[in-house]
Amino acid sequence: MYRDSRTGKGLGSRVVGGGLVVYNETVKKRDGVPAHLAPPSSVPPPLVILQQVSRVYHLGPVRVSALDSVDLELQPGEFVVVLGPSGSGKTTLLNVIGGLDSPTAGRVVVDGMDITRSNEARLTQFRRRKIGFVFQFFNLLPNLTARENVELAAALAGTQRLIDRVMDDVGLTRQSRQFPGQLSGGEQQRVAVARALVTDAPLVLCDEPTGNLDFATGRRILKLMTDISRQTGKTFVVVTHNAAIGRVAHRVLHLRDGRIVQEKDNFEPIDPERLEW
Ligand SMILES: Nc1ncnc2c1ncn2[C@@H]1O[C@H](COP(=O)(O)OP(=O)(O)O)[C@@H](O)[C@H]1O
Ligand SMILES: [Mg+2]
Repeated sequence: MYRDSRTGKGLGSRVVGGGLVVYNETVKKRDGVPAHLAPPSSVPPPLVILQQVSRVYHLGPVRVSALDSVDLELQPGEFVVVLGPSGSGKTTLLNVIGGLDSPTAGRVVVDGMDITRSNEARLTQFRRRKIGFVFQFFNLLPNLTARENVELAAALAGTQRLIDRVMDDVGLTRQSRQFPGQLSGGEQQRVAVARALVTDAPLVLCDEPTGNLDFATGRRILKLMTDISRQTGKTFVVVTHNAAIGRVAHRVLHLRDGRIVQEKDNFEPIDPERLEW
């Protein structure tokens, strides 16, 4: 079942001529032509496809299965929350999607590119242009100002035009010239969000982005993310062990022992401002 990411309405799908086409069940007629005779509009393919992805670590004689035969598809514009206890494979899943780690088995396709068959040089370009990362401990460069941290990501991706707008979107124009050490935790995370958004990357991967923030600040960061996801159509994957955060997502995945053990569509995501935890 595919969902229109904006209206949340269900979309029927069927396969025609080998390609997947999707049409909106609620549209009965197009231009006066009965729906079954009108050419169906095609939708973009999933932004992310994981097929039977496993990641095994060997610690001496011990074999740790951080991801175990995971199948997953993420649609453009989706806001997905991944929940699971510590050690369940959440970070490994993000790293494998973002090309920071390679699976030991399976296939990962992002925006049409099979990253499991790419060499390092292509993977570097892939990470710069296709992925925005947001981490729990911000990972900013301490000797660059807030704005310079954002400018560097833009320069690496070759997309300078969004810098001013993104600094404004995250509310940091005034703090542009401050160094990370001169910013609060929430402000540092806003720099990290700006850095992830300053490119044309269609996918933003966030690993415990509110894990190091107080409740009110964490909620503001989430609000920023859901607003931007809606405005830009970027796909967000937010990893957290905080189940309350699932309520803002279109879809919630539960990981345990490297497997997706539960998957829930959320047809009425709430505004992060209404979150309590
Ligand atoms: N580099 C590594 N070397 C060995 N084991 C690892 C490594 N990274 C993760 N693991 C193991 O893989 C499992 C999943 O880890 P991780 O993805 O970090 O979980 P989570 O983010 O949900 O806490 C854990 O058992 C962890 O110890
Ligand atoms: Mg983790």
